[in-house]
Amino acid sequence: MKKKPSIAVFPGSFDPVTNGHLDLIDRTLSVFDEVIVAILVNPEKRPLFTVDERVSILGEVCRSKRRVRIDTFSGLLVDYAVRAGASAIVRGLRAISDFEYEFQMALMNRRLNPRIDTVFLMAPESYSYLSSRLVKEVFHLGGAITGLVPPLVEQRLRQKLLHAASARRGRRKR
Ligand code: PNS
Repeated sequence: MKKKPSIAVFPGSFDPVTNGHLDLIDRTLSVFDEVIVAILVNPEKRPLFTVDERVSILGEVCRSKRRVRIDTFSGLLVDYAVRAGASAIVRGLRAISDFEYEFQMALMNRRLNPRIDTVFLMAPESYSYLSSRLVKEVFHLGGAITGLVPPLVEQRLRQKLLHAASARRGRRKR
């Protein structure tokens, strides 16, 4: 009988995806047959990139990764994992400071559904300080982010900045 493929969900906000996320996707692919990158749809947050923009960026930067699927979810992550046929949730650990929050989430998810395990993968040291929040902050303040995000993300950030600047000019004229 053919073995069922092992599927992992890699959840997050991905606002925007960084090279740290892409490294974790590759690491996950060496452990699982398939990875679903699942973007949380959270109407309470005000993300820089819309869900559609994030789906499109992730689709583009993961295009060559044949065993990766991009999806969105809302509600409980463990319920989504069951619907998607996944047996595990993958999260990255960059530093000890990540641990407490991740440990809480993993234990809560285990309580909600003991069949879904959380697997932690270590980010490489070179990305241990990298986060989507810092990328946005550094970019908006004019700092260099080359090498921290895929070139497409840098391009999209530049477009966002230009768009915001022209919207401000438009408001001032009125
Ligand atoms: O990239 P992020 O913002 O650190 O990802 C956080 C995410 C999406 C993994 C987390 O917020 C989540 O799982 N949200 C879904 C809601 C849920 O299941 N909550 C209970 C589990 S603690």
